[in-house]
Amino acid sequence: MSSSTASSSAIESVLVENRVFPPSAATVKAARVSGMAQYQAMCEAFDKDFEGTWARLARENLVWSKPFTKTLSQGSKPFYKWFEDGELNASANCLDKHVGTPIENKTAIIFEADDGAVTKVSYKELLAKVSQFANALKAQGIKKGDRVLIYMPMTIEGVVAMQACARIGATHSVVFGGFSAKSLQERIIDAGAVAVITANYQMRGGRELPLKAIVDEALGMGGCDSIKTVLVYQRTATACNMVAGRDKTFTEALAGQSTVCKPEQVGAEHPLFILYTSGSTGKPKGVQHATGGYLLWARLTMDWTFDLQPNDIFWCTADIGWITGHTYVAYGPLAAGGTQIVFEGVPTYPNAGRFWQMIEKHKATIFYTAPTAIRSLIKAAEADEKVHPARSNLSSLRILGSVGEPINPEAWMWYHKHVGGERCPIVDTFWQTETGGHVITPLPGATPLVPGSCTLPLPGISAAIVDEMGNDIPNGTGGILVIKKPWPSMIRTIWGDPERFKKSYFPEELKGYYLAGDGAVRSADRGYFRITGRIDDVLNVSGHRLGTMEIESALVSKTDLVAEAAVVGRPDDLTGEAICAFVVLKRSRPTGEEAKQIANELRNWVAKEIGPIAKPKDIRFGDNLPKTRSGKIMRRLLRSLAKGEAITQDITTLENPAVLDQLAQTN
Ligand code: WT7
Repeated sequence: MSSSTASSSAIESVLVENRVFPPSAATVKAARVSGMAQYQAMCEAFDKDFEGTWARLARENLVWSKPFTKTLSQGSKPFYKWFEDGELNASANCLDKHVGTPIENKTAIIFEADDGAVTKVSYKELLAKVSQFANALKAQGIKKGDRVLIYMPMTIEGVVAMQACARIGATHSVVFGGFSAKSLQERIIDAGAVAVITANYQMRGGRELPLKAIVDEALGMGGCDSIKTVLVYQRTATACNMVAGRDKTFTEALAGQSTVCKPEQVGAEHPLFILYTSGSTGKPKGVQHATGGYLLWARLTMDWTFDLQPNDIFWCTADIGWITGHTYVAYGPLAAGGTQIVFEGVPTYPNAGRFWQMIEKHKATIFYTAPTAIRSLIKAAEADEKVHPARSNLSSLRILGSVGEPINPEAWMWYHKHVGGERCPIVDTFWQTETGGHVITPLPGATPLVPGSCTLPLPGISAAIVDEMGNDIPNGTGGILVIKKPWPSMIRTIWGDPERFKKSYFPEELKGYYLAGDGAVRSADRGYFRITGRIDDVLNVSGHRLGTMEIESALVSKTDLVAEAAVVGRPDDLTGEAICAFVVLKRSRPTGEEAKQIANELRNWVAKEIGPIAKPKDIRFGDNLPKTRSGKIMRRLLRSLAKGEAITQDITTLENPAVLDQLAQTN
């Protein structure tokens, strides 16, 4: 079991459990979910009438072009279907719905570019942009059911591209702009995409980074014949290569297209998107989400978890390339009629006070970011008082959020004090690409907060901790996190691999429960959940999910150099977990300068194969890897070595115990 929380020491964790931060009386009074009694009543509604409650919420919160009569279909478990015979359109539920209401002239997106330039669009304007882009897609022959790959920077145009796909019933698959050509190619092939929507370049931290060139490289790698069209947003003035007959700029594609486009109504189960994420094998999984259930949860969690009010300025810092940027940038805030900030750049440019300066500038009221960002900004603020949050006026803030990895209590306390002014509740939201939206999280106007704990499941979510046979485990004892009943925004399948879907998420021994892949423990006193880290071979580095097997495959694909590789995680103060690779070369074991040089070569290789986020922090060389007699790599031992711990495991079967000394050395 890898542990992402190990960076906080045991003593701190004990101290922390005594700190409780209940919401103020005023916060409780004003909140949509007001107090624990209301939370409990909402949970009980599901206990009393599970399907009836979901059906009521789906009717109240979404616009259906054809009402559903079936709420949950369980005929082919675990392939659950929600609101199956209903029809709707996701884009209509985010945009058209607000037109003709006072929201139509409200600002939907406040876009701040890398260089600080600000652009605002109202709901009406956004609808026109999305409709025009949807018409441009149709003019390219793209239609309902087609898959469209989106490789875009964080921009209004990125959101427009996603919404436009949804509008015509095309299934989008967004790939984060930091992924390599190879990763892009694999996803294009797996999804069978017909088009790519990209930009010439992206701007990050004052640097112009290529996107289109990477798309060209991916398409040139072979196997991407399904791609007929590449649409290119000219984000910067720099020219990029354009292939005649295949590539079109946005300007060319949009020319003459109407700003009115009738939304294509789709069945509730129609795949809204596929988003690739890492699992425990080398091949990323295409997590497939449905339209109706996903959108319902995106909409509801905006109200419940973020208590979104009409005057809020919501800011989720996640990129649209991740699930957080899907649910809490591209869909949730729009479905809820909110005003949100979309930020193109990075938190450290032009200085590490950028987030705080932007909160002041745009008067953000709800701020949602990742623990890694918080930890790096703490470090920056401690080193340079000029970028400390105290230098900015953060009084507009009322709710803070955290997502993607466990937040260590020290970072929580700093966030609470220096960003939240000891007044803003922090919602530590636990969820996954597969869950579609929050599943375990505090509610700002109800839940007493405990630093480092994501507290309690949302109403309707039957989260529990069980043993290997699916039996409940008492509070205070660690176990496996499961969700016992289906919920509307759950993953529907792995694109093209239903068997893997069943095996990964609904293993036979777990009584049909959904297996999250995380370990967790509930506190003895309150029953609060604390996530203890992944129980599979998945690492969480800076809130990004990476499979150890993926990184191993990337390393051994450097066939001229690498004979064997094993990858494990180790705790890291800044990134939560760090990647540690143990490598056996085809030549003799390098030492000194040569080892450093080869380690760097391998890091760059992995960056090229997967993306810079997958670069191993530590690379260690050995004459071989420690294995059991049956030839299995002793990963537990490697984890101890990675942490620099004394070896307590039985190593009597090791043929060459000297490799342990070799593998203890970092390059
Ligand atoms: C994994 C899912 C959720 C959107 C971003 C990541 C870890 C996520 C928390 C949290 C502790 C967390 C889990 C989970 N995780 N949120 N609040 N506390 N751990 O989505 O890439 O699908 O990763 O992130 O390990 O399984 P993802």
